[in-house]
Amino acid sequence: MADAKEFQDRLLSLGLARVSEAAALASARLVGRGDEKAADQAAVNAMREQLNLLDIAGVVVIGEGERDEAPMLYIGEEVGTGNGPAVDIALDPLEGTTLTAKDMPNALTVIAMAPRGTLLHAPDVYMEKLAIGPGYKPGTVTMNMTPSERVSALAAAKGVSTKDITVCVLERLRHEEMIREIRSTGAAIRLITDGDVAGVMHCAEPEVTGIDMYMGSGGAPEGVLAAAALKCMGGEFFGKLLFRNDDERGRAAKAGITNFDRVYTRDDLVRGDVIFAATGVTSGSLLAGIKSEPGWITTETLLMRSKTGSVRRMSYRSPVK
Ligand code: FBP
Repeated sequence: MADAKEFQDRLLSLGLARVSEAAALASARLVGRGDEKAADQAAVNAMREQLNLLDIAGVVVIGEGERDEAPMLYIGEEVGTGNGPAVDIALDPLEGTTLTAKDMPNALTVIAMAPRGTLLHAPDVYMEKLAIGPGYKPGTVTMNMTPSERVSALAAAKGVSTKDITVCVLERLRHEEMIREIRSTGAAIRLITDGDVAGVMHCAEPEVTGIDMYMGSGGAPEGVLAAAALKCMGGEFFGKLLFRNDDERGRAAKAGITNFDRVYTRDDLVRGDVIFAATGVTSGSLLAGIKSEPGWITTETLLMRSKTGSVRRMSYRSPVK
C-alpha cells in the first residue's frame, strides 16, 4: 500500500475538485450583485472550510495576501487535517471578483496542490507573462522577443499568416503600446477586462477558444496558478516579476527571491507534479458558469493532473439547501 504521507495526486484530486466547487457554489448568489467583496468573502470561507477537511498537511503559498492583511487563507496559513502529505497550496477563491460582480464571462474559482516546496512563493506584485499552447518547439517564443517578433515566430511555427494568430491581452492602459504593436502585424487581439488565469489557460486549447498566445502583465500569484494549469494541459509559460518600488522588492526578498530579474519558465514556477482544479462561476469559453434551477444548482469543474496529463470536466448537481 502507498504511504499516506506521499503526494498521492490521484487520491487527492477529487478532494481538490470539491474545494473548488464549494467556493463556486458559495459565490453563486452573488453573481451580478455588484459586490466584489461579498462574493470574494463567500468563496474564501467555503474554500477554507472544504480545504480543512482534506487529509493533508497543507501550507498556503499563494493565497489571499499577507497574514495581517487577509484574515483567511493568508500566505503561510496551515490547512487540512494535518494527517497526510506535506503540500503547497496555491489558490484564488474567486479569480475575477469584478467579473462575478458584473456577471461577465470567465470568472473562476482556482486551486492547485503540489508537494511541499515545489511552488514558487510569488509575492503579490505584478508579473510580465507570456504563454503559448502545446505542440511547439521550446524557444519558439521568448521573453526577449518584442511582441511583434513573438507573433511572427508563432505564426511561422504554426505554418499560418500572422493574420491568423489571435493574442489574448488584459485591457489596461499599460498595454496600449503592446496592443498597437501586435495589431501592426495583422494579428487579432482578444481583450479581456480581468481574469488572466483563464486568459493563459485559453492558449492550451486554441481550437476551442480561438486563442494562440497570451501576453502582458498581471498579478504574480495568478502567474503561478496559470503555470500550474499549463503544466497539466500542456503549453509554455514565462513569467518575470515586475517591481514598482522598494516595498515590492522587500516583499519578494521576504518570499525568498534573490534574483529580481529572473525569467521563470513554467517548470521553475511549478517544480514538480501538480493537481489543479477550477470551477466556472460565470460562463466562458473554457467552463460553463453556475447554473441555478428551482431546487438545484449545477457547476462545471476542470480537474487536471500534471503526472498523467489527464483533464477531466466534471458536472456537479447539488440540491439547494
Ligand atoms: P481579482 O479577481 O483579484 O479582481 O483579480 C483579477 C485580475 O484581473 C487578475 O486576473 C489579474 O492578474 C489582475 O487582476 C490584474 O491586475 P490589475 O487589475 O491591477 O491590472
